[in-house]
Amino acid sequence: MKNLFILIALSTASTGAIAASAFSDAEDAVSYRQHSFQLIRHNFADLGDMVKGQVPFDAERAKRRAAALVSLTTLPWEAFEVPGADKAESSAKADIWQNLQDFKQKAEKFQADAAALNTAAASGTMEQIKPAVMAFAKNCKACHDKYKAD
Ligand code: HEC
Repeated sequence: MKNLFILIALSTASTGAIAASAFSDAEDAVSYRQHSFQLIRHNFADLGDMVKGQVPFDAERAKRRAAALVSLTTLPWEAFEVPGADKAESSAKADIWQNLQDFKQKAEKFQADAAALNTAAASGTMEQIKPAVMAFAKNCKACHDKYKAD
């Protein structure tokens, strides 16, 4: 009986325009990718502040932030490929869909740098974390300058 309820709940949750998908429509996909970027911002900001000495260095928290970024940096991209997600209102520039290969390459480099940051954070030393945070940070501007409207 319990399984039946779960099935009913699941089928109600996926009655949107894009059936059997995580996104009910293009606006929902935009919301997903924007929220993903906000979570990236929060987790990154704390690491940035530790590197700048604006908050005390906490090796355990740095590890958690870096591990979160490994997952979070995988999230936004699929939401750029939902049908209509290029036309929905957002800060994403049309250039993304004209240069999808380049955009994807930037997204992949970002994820690789998150993995490197995670390895550096595992060391527990600021000496290793600092350059990894700086390298990771470069990805934001490199992509935003080209593909994000202000
Ligand atoms: C490969 C490209 C790319 C990279 C790398 C990237 N971003 Fe973005 N970011 C975007 C795009 C495109 C948007 C616009 C998304 C939209 O409006 O649908 C965006 C939007 C945002 C937003 C606004 C979200 C909202 O609520 O509208 C924040 C905050 C953000 N990015 C933070 C970051 C930070 C911090 C980094 C680096 C640690 C980063 N991004 C790296 C492409 C990127």
